[in-house]
Amino acid sequence: EHGCQPLLLVVLINVDCSKWEGMVSGLEIYSLIIAGINIGLTSVPTITPIPCNCQNNGTCRNGVCICSDEWTGDKCQTANFCNSSVDNNSSLTFDRIIVNRSGYSNEKCEADTPNAHFSKATRMCLLEDGMPVLSTPRMVNCNENLDTLAEQVKDNMTVDQLLQVATSTQVLTSQADILTTQNITSAAGIAQQILSKSEELASVKAAAIAVTTVSQLMDVHDDEFSPDNADVSNVTKSLTKSLEKFSMEVNNNASKLVQSNLAVQSLSLGQGVTQGVLFTALRGLNDNLLGNRIELNSNASNLTENTYAEVQIFINVSTSQVDQGRVGFVLYQNDKFFKSKTHSSKMNFTKRVISGNLANNVTLNSVELLFNPQNYSSEFYLYDYACVFWDYNIDDWNTTGCTKGKVDNGPLRCWCNHTTNFALLMNFRQNYKYAQPLEIVSYVGCGLSIAGLALTILFQVSTRKTRKTSITWMFVSLCVSMLIVNVIFISGIDNPNAKKDHGVSNSTENTLIKSDLSSAPEEVWCTLVAAFLHYFLLATFTWTALYAVHMHFLLTKIFKQPPRHLILKASGIGWGVPAVVVAITLGATYGTGNPLNYRQEEFCWLAALDPQGTLDLSKPMLWTFLLPLGIILILNFIVFVNLTVMVQCKNNKILNSSKKQSYMKKVLSTLSIAVVLGLTWSTGYLMLINNEGARTVFSYLFCVINTCQGLQIFILFTIQSTVFQKKMAKIWSTFTLPEIYLHSQKFSLKWSKSEGIKESYTQADSFTSSTEFSSSILYET
Ligand SMILES: *[C@@H]1O[C@H](CO)[C@@H](O)[C@H](O)[C@H]1NC(C)=O
Ligand SMILES: *[C@@H]1O[C@H](CO)[C@@H](O)[C@H](O)[C@H]1NC(C)=O
Ligand SMILES: *[C@@H]1O[C@H](CO)[C@@H](O)[C@H](O)[C@H]1NC(C)=O
Ligand SMILES: *[C@@H]1O[C@H](CO)[C@@H](O)[C@H](O)[C@H]1NC(C)=O
Ligand SMILES: *[C@@H]1O[C@H](CO)[C@@H](O)[C@H](O)[C@H]1NC(C)=O
Repeated sequence: EHGCQPLLLVVLINVDCSKWEGMVSGLEIYSLIIAGINIGLTSVPTITPIPCNCQNNGTCRNGVCICSDEWTGDKCQTANFCNSSVDNNSSLTFDRIIVNRSGYSNEKCEADTPNAHFSKATRMCLLEDGMPVLSTPRMVNCNENLDTLAEQVKDNMTVDQLLQVATSTQVLTSQADILTTQNITSAAGIAQQILSKSEELASVKAAAIAVTTVSQLMDVHDDEFSPDNADVSNVTKSLTKSLEKFSMEVNNNASKLVQSNLAVQSLSLGQGVTQGVLFTALRGLNDNLLGNRIELNSNASNLTENTYAEVQIFINVSTSQVDQGRVGFVLYQNDKFFKSKTHSSKMNFTKRVISGNLANNVTLNSVELLFNPQNYSSEFYLYDYACVFWDYNIDDWNTTGCTKGKVDNGPLRCWCNHTTNFALLMNFRQNYKYAQPLEIVSYVGCGLSIAGLALTILFQVSTRKTRKTSITWMFVSLCVSMLIVNVIFISGIDNPNAKKDHGVSNSTENTLIKSDLSSAPEEVWCTLVAAFLHYFLLATFTWTALYAVHMHFLLTKIFKQPPRHLILKASGIGWGVPAVVVAITLGATYGTGNPLNYRQEEFCWLAALDPQGTLDLSKPMLWTFLLPLGIILILNFIVFVNLTVMVQCKNNKILNSSKKQSYMKKVLSTLSIAVVLGLTWSTGYLMLINNEGARTVFSYLFCVINTCQGLQIFILFTIQSTVFQKKMAKIWSTFTLPEIYLHSQKFSLKWSKSEGIKESYTQADSFTSSTEFSSSILYET
């Protein structure tokens, strides 16, 4: 008669932990906002740098101005460029050009020529008596391409012809992004031949142009220089050999050729050199090499501790022969010409390659190197390094004859007993922000939860006779898996790696490094903890669903008879399905050899995020936890809504309203457990918050929520149960008047003989043998 009044409302008013949880979720969101604000506030840098009044965007480092490429001087006040210009003869226009670099005319070759997209001319900005001066522009032949130019390079060329070829090649390689493999091979071939001719032709100018070409080639994308590309590998090999030779040539006395990606310097060891030669490349604001950042000391006795040095090489020679000797240096901005098959790079980190060369007639004592790599992001730390040289016999890095120092906070050092192209191979590890150890409140919360669950299990098992075996079984399964989750959580969530010393490798053994990124050794314990948590949480959710569905069948009497082997089937689903999910996940992720595809390193729980901190779809969290969780929650919710409507509308004669309500309450409770547990564990990574206050808040929240789960079950399923209350009432009645039986209801139930001893779905909860019982509902008014 009263129609379908929403029972939902009635159920929600009940005072138990589920009410708390709404508040807790609110608190959680609030605390996260606070945490966000705190993180924002604390990340404001507080260090006050020494002022050095740098001009023109110079950066102050320890009281020294580091200028941009366009400025120089101790306050970056002096121009290091030639202003934009118009050539009087050709009326070609040029933009600003940095000293010792080339500029290209804004006017391009005519549209109907093969080189339509390239500039018509190039000119250099040179330093004469300390003043930047522009050179006369050199015109490009708009009809030649790199292939036809490569054919022109012959032995009997005049200097002018060579200059013309060199200039055209330089212009045609000025746009690195449109160069094909064929273009690179041709251009590198031309540059190599010009460099190897520089001695006989006395044409340092053509060689200087070739150096610019080579520098431009080093801007081409990394992929073009893959060691599998035989043409390019061969040509870069002869090119680097020619550069070594060129760096020692007599025509190139004490001259310095510096382009963005390549620096070549040579020196005749005259009377002045007594001990050794020190070549230093200072660090700038970017990765580009610049003439005024390359220094050479021809009378050095050792490496100098220069904090601004990025690379240093000290060549110690035997002094008796220095008079005739020559020494040359080549510094490569990156390692594109030295692509290893054995060392793989995952981090895009430019590796300098430095070549120190000594003419054959001088005896080398030793080579000492210092590398001060650019700052890598704080996400990684340097674990180890290797000092290597390029071995042309195997076309790969080799460590023979080199020794290394240890990784400490200072620069990295190498010693070698021969000269050639040297580099430093580095190995990084990720800098994990390990979760802080659990706070005491977490232990208290989980302890209470565990106690509540344990008492509930004991109570349920000891009073199992008073209700259906299937209900007890499902409910106890739910409690057991929740209890195990709590136990694993407090005993194993912290990654043991967090307590280990996160030091660097102490080894001074100079062995080749296979990859620039490696992970900390596998912690099997942590993976086990993550897998068990994954399993028991999934099991908990599955059991909440089974329990809700079971209750639904009981209440709505869909089946006259319970399904055969109900407990067996339910157990198959409840314990089996999560096992299958975990097994498949482990096989697909852990099987790949990287444990961090399955779990995270910060604490022992499923991997969810990529290094940028966003949800990674290839990690297991989404597919094997959030997705099953979502499905179960939706299922639970449908069951709940369905029940609410059905119970309300159907004229259920067997169950009185309070009985229904008790059922509904239990279903709602399992739903809320699933929701809150799901929320807690999906946002588990919030425990990583790198802020003491926020972490503490989260810790307390986790504790409150967790405690509520166990206590909620304890209150609703144990304290509020009929049997428990009857027992308590008996104890009570000996002390007080029996007035607590405010609402005592009686109803009878038909016991169908034909359905026999088998469980019948027409029977409900809480009784078996008696056909008459009384139910006291203390919590209802
Ligand atoms: C680069 O190579 C392509 C063929 O791969 C050729 O068509 C083009 O003319 C070359 N470009 C130059 C500037 O030589
Ligand atoms: C280079 O130096 C050597 C020895 O100091 C000298 O003989 C030679 O003429 C110089 N070459 C040039 C091009 O300056
Ligand atoms: C080279 O350095 C040594 C000591 O470091 C010094 O005695 C010598 O005079 C220097 N030679 C020249 C030519 O500067
Ligand atoms: C690199 O980091 C160190 C400390 O981490 C800092 O002192 C230094 O200034 C940084 N250098 C650059 C070039 O950012
Ligand atoms: C350099 O050292 C390696 C190994 O220590 C040795 O085999 C090699 O002969 C040495 N080379 C020179 C030129 O001394």
